[in-house]
Amino acid sequence: MSIILGIESSCDETAASVCRDGMILSNIIAAQDIHGRYGGVVPELASRAHIENIFPVVDQAMVKAGIPISELDAIAFTQSPGLIGSLLVGAQFAKSLAFSLNIPLIAVHHMQAHVIANLIGGIENPETVPEFPFLCLTVSGGHTQIVVCESPSRMQVIGETTDDAAGEAFDKSAKILGPPYPGGPLIDKYAATGNEARFKFPEPQIPGLNFSFSGLKTAILYFIQNEKARDPEFIEKNLADICASIQGRIVSILLNKLKKAAIQTGINQVCLAGGVSANKGLRNAFTELGKSAGWKTFIPRMEYCTDNAAMIAMTGYYKFKEQSFSPLSTTVSARASW
Ligand code: KG4
Ligand code: ZN
Repeated sequence: MSIILGIESSCDETAASVCRDGMILSNIIAAQDIHGRYGGVVPELASRAHIENIFPVVDQAMVKAGIPISELDAIAFTQSPGLIGSLLVGAQFAKSLAFSLNIPLIAVHHMQAHVIANLIGGIENPETVPEFPFLCLTVSGGHTQIVVCESPSRMQVIGETTDDAAGEAFDKSAKILGPPYPGGPLIDKYAATGNEARFKFPEPQIPGLNFSFSGLKTAILYFIQNEKARDPEFIEKNLADICASIQGRIVSILLNKLKKAAIQTGINQVCLAGGVSANKGLRNAFTELGKSAGWKTFIPRMEYCTDNAAMIAMTGYYKFKEQSFSPLSTTVSARASW
């Protein structure tokens, strides 16, 4: 039996969640709208917003779960990777609470937690979650990884991006076209009515299971500059087709590597995770690929794809079972090493 509070503050969402015996009782998120004005997350503003949000967000998570704070068994928090000032706010809060309640502290790796998001709901409905070992394509704003997950605590990265992440490819493409940050959801929205075969963007030839997205971004930039020189209203006239074509190429780069990884590992339980897995084009193409390749496919519910604390609390649940605790002297890290 365990009741875990999870805290997530690695980027621009302040989030808290309570997990009882592997079941999520609450999942509260305060998004920070202020960054839209600046075209990207401003680290110092994110840290300040976390300080303002963290008390009310944790309080709401406890109230929604109907659990008094004195009943918590452990506090899990995002230790890495992320913005250092943002991570520090969550970590200091988690440490202070764990110290004052005299309960264990659990340090969680944000990218591993994205993978674990696929296991949420498994206690209630075991058939809705993957069995071990499974493959996971984790696609977020800062990372793009293919992970073999052998158990909640044994994961291996077998492919990753050598430059931009898939989320950055969406956000930077959107910036070229004009929509505000984060552009991923807007490309998704406009792509819904577009023709993805209309414009052709290159697929990089990267050996093995690694990815590269920086060439795509440059190709999009030159394409738009050339077309706009011919017709200043090119973007407005063709927005849906441009977005669909960009999205289609990002999705095909991701799924071609995932297909290769499934063949190489012989694993046929395959999952998506991370903010970009909220993308409808990716979700649909992934499901279709799974059908044709004979995979069993899994995608977390929308609220567990983008940054959230339920995935942190759920990872905390597994780490609690293994008594994998961290001392109060644990430090946060901006870098992604596992
Ligand atoms: O996992 P996440 O919420 O935060 C990080 O850990 O980075 O991922 C954020 C990224 C952003 O780049 C955002 O544009 C992208 O996920 N994203 C999307 C969609 N929703 C979020 N990209 C494409 N389509 C979406 N619907
Ligand atoms: Zn994330």
